[in-house]
Amino acid sequence: MEKSAVLVGVQWGDEGKGKVVDALAEQFDIVARYQGGANAGHTVVVDGRKFILQLIPSGILRPGKVAVIGNGVVLDPEALLDEIKTIENAGVEVGDRLRVSNRSHLILPYHRLQEQAAEAARGAGKIGTTAKGIGPSYEDKSARRGLRCSDLEHPESFRRKCLEALAEKNLYAAAIGGEVIADPELVVEKFWCSARRILPYATDVSSYLNQEMDRGKAVLFEGAQGTLLDLDHGTYPYVTSSSAAAGGACTGTGVGPGRIGSVVGVSKAYTTRVGSGPFPTEVHGDEGGQLRERGNEYGAVTGRPRRCGWFDAPAARYSARVNHLAALVITKLDILDELDEIPVGVEYEIEGRTLHEFPASAETLGAVKVRYEVLPGWRRSTFGLRSHSELPPNARAYLHFISEQAGVEVAMVSTGPGRDQTIWIESSRWVSQFALPK
Ligand code: IMP
Repeated sequence: MEKSAVLVGVQWGDEGKGKVVDALAEQFDIVARYQGGANAGHTVVVDGRKFILQLIPSGILRPGKVAVIGNGVVLDPEALLDEIKTIENAGVEVGDRLRVSNRSHLILPYHRLQEQAAEAARGAGKIGTTAKGIGPSYEDKSARRGLRCSDLEHPESFRRKCLEALAEKNLYAAAIGGEVIADPELVVEKFWCSARRILPYATDVSSYLNQEMDRGKAVLFEGAQGTLLDLDHGTYPYVTSSSAAAGGACTGTGVGPGRIGSVVGVSKAYTTRVGSGPFPTEVHGDEGGQLRERGNEYGAVTGRPRRCGWFDAPAARYSARVNHLAALVITKLDILDELDEIPVGVEYEIEGRTLHEFPASAETLGAVKVRYEVLPGWRRSTFGLRSHSELPPNARAYLHFISEQAGVEVAMVSTGPGRDQTIWIESSRWVSQFALPK
């Protein structure tokens, strides 16, 4: 069995994958991010120091580990350089421990402008994007007019392609009476000056990863966002523009599916969502506000308050299938510590009928009625606990219930932001397979 695994968000992102990658990275040699861009925000606390990583996999914080950014990621060079500077200033040596795919697409200055215009045009139906230019960069990739990291190796053709793309964008902007970019040459020159500084990190990632795997190295493939934000399998159109589900690990790095041993899903003990779109188990008013405050549910990248709600079992079952999850990691269990009762959404109904499939249509998902089962709370602090047996019986029963509902074993529980605030479940097959600490 291949030791390499994919770590994927089960919900709408922000499940705490950064901390989990950091906790797991000890068992892997390389951590490879396969999609998304600087829209993700992974908060990791190491020795009491807080790092917010947007592009670089959190494996970089472990000495000796290699962090890889795959071809499925869209790269904002300025954001990458800033992030390298921040972590180097914090005393983390980067050097050749960071590799960036030479096939990754770039985010150019006009992508952000394009996104602002698109969101404004959608009005009340806006997606509520992170405004990082992610969607428009992926649009250009699909339209075969994108610029890739490897284009930076050829300054003349890079400038030409960039100016051609800008001329086309200006044409559209002018046609609808919008603002055009007045000095394309200047924009391209400025971009070039910073972007070329990422070239030392450029690597043929597929070749690198496959060679390292041939030598017996284990890779942890890290997804950003979550399955319900996946372009194909998420709550379209309220999704991100890339393949966040586990399948994206292969296309986003150039590693074949047969080389990946298992997929592990990360889910909060409740649910959150940022941006627009249906959210069946959302809780409004004071109850939702309490979850938000206790869980500090504010976007790591945008600072936006997250919408909060209860654990959604139909969504977890759907995610388990789409990703073929071998195990679940449950994060932020301690946020539920003070509740007397904890509802869990167990079934969707529409017009009195039970829905057996997670609906494809955002309209249907927005109209479902959720049937809840209410579990007793434990009213004791679980913060920082490190063994399953220390958990209050009702907390164990809660974990058991959501695991049964999702149809996936729980392998690990995160009880705080720190690396060691982690419970490995001894009876988990996944934990024993990976020889994780028990
Ligand atoms: P985009 O990825 O900026 O295009 O935004 C599309 C949707 O995905 C919006 O609803 C965002 O709020 C959401 N989104 C993007 N990145 C993240 C993330 O890292 N966590 C949670 N939501 C995200």
